[in-house]
Amino acid sequence: MVNLDEGAGLETTLSGHLNFLHERLSVIAPDVERIACALYDADEDLLKTFINSTRSGHVIRGYQYRLSESESLSYLAEANETRVIEDIPAALNTETAHSRYVLDEGYLSSFTVPMRYRGAFLGMIFFDSRTYGTFTPDLQRELTLYAQLITAGVASEFVAIRSIIGTIHVARDLTELRDIETGAHLERMARYARLIARGLVEPLDLTDEFVEAVFLFAPLHDIGKIGIPDRILLKPSRLDMDEWEIMRTHTTKGRAMVDTIARDLGMGALNREDVMGNIVELHHEALNGSGYPYGLEGEQIPLEARIVSVADIFDALTSARPYKPNWAIERAFDELDRLVAAGRIDGRIVSALAAQEGEVAEVMERHAEAAAWSA
Ligand SMILES: [Fe+2]
Ligand SMILES: [Fe+2]
Repeated sequence: MVNLDEGAGLETTLSGHLNFLHERLSVIAPDVERIACALYDADEDLLKTFINSTRSGHVIRGYQYRLSESESLSYLAEANETRVIEDIPAALNTETAHSRYVLDEGYLSSFTVPMRYRGAFLGMIFFDSRTYGTFTPDLQRELTLYAQLITAGVASEFVAIRSIIGTIHVARDLTELRDIETGAHLERMARYARLIARGLVEPLDLTDEFVEAVFLFAPLHDIGKIGIPDRILLKPSRLDMDEWEIMRTHTTKGRAMVDTIARDLGMGALNREDVMGNIVELHHEALNGSGYPYGLEGEQIPLEARIVSVADIFDALTSARPYKPNWAIERAFDELDRLVAAGRIDGRIVSALAAQEGEVAEVMERHAEAAAWSA
């Protein structure tokens, strides 16, 4: 029985493609028990679990480690070479959680293939078996082909998303949008959103694909402000009621924009749950129904929108704005707690962020300077 991360609609997801390939592969190589694909985040030197097809046993999710901490994987990435381990218990002696996982699950041999696209290292594909010496030279040749198919699927997904982000930058530049939403704000809030999503993987049974989608689409949350006239967007004094009404339409305007872009660019699996549209349209909704544009309540607000809302507020609190200095982390969390008590934001989401205070401080430090969001 193939162990799937998700229910219906699988054939349209990357996980679904991977499971399909795995089924095909099992005809010629029944001993290949697991195919896992980990993505590389060059900015933070992290290799992160992404999609997998695991026939039996426990599935590893929400896990990451620094590529530089693994000498052998760093070498494979750099040299673009594959690696066969014929006897895992004899070869693996490191203390990483991943090695422990591989040993605990009883995997005895493996084949590792780096994913490269247009010269860039995208991540790693791992093939694992519960018998020794499964990966003969013949099978390696076969699996290298499978690895190319998987790489093509992953790459096309990311190329589509990069085109979207690129298109949006062009649009931003054309409208000469000058806003407090700096590139550094977008970098930070996207990372806070990812920390939150990752912290919720276990309790809410989320997939790694969802975590990545939240991270990729979070910076688009205010894209609809492109459609707000400068006299309102840049007004130094308080907005009047009519102006507020117009300002609030950045949610629905943004939704229309990303829908058009997604249609034109043929968005793939990473947006299948409409994570992008939900973030853009619903990031100002509040749990108690006091938000906009629809006054949705509680779980009516999709998780991705609730996450981005907290990440956005947290970054606004901890950043200097024309009307306030930057608040210390503790003070910002006090304010988030107050918003939880007031019924506006989700306490589990705030807790997930608060539980990772060290990582939060790291993001803050790393992205303190205004560095433009780059796709
Ligand atoms: Fe907004
Ligand atoms: Fe924002």
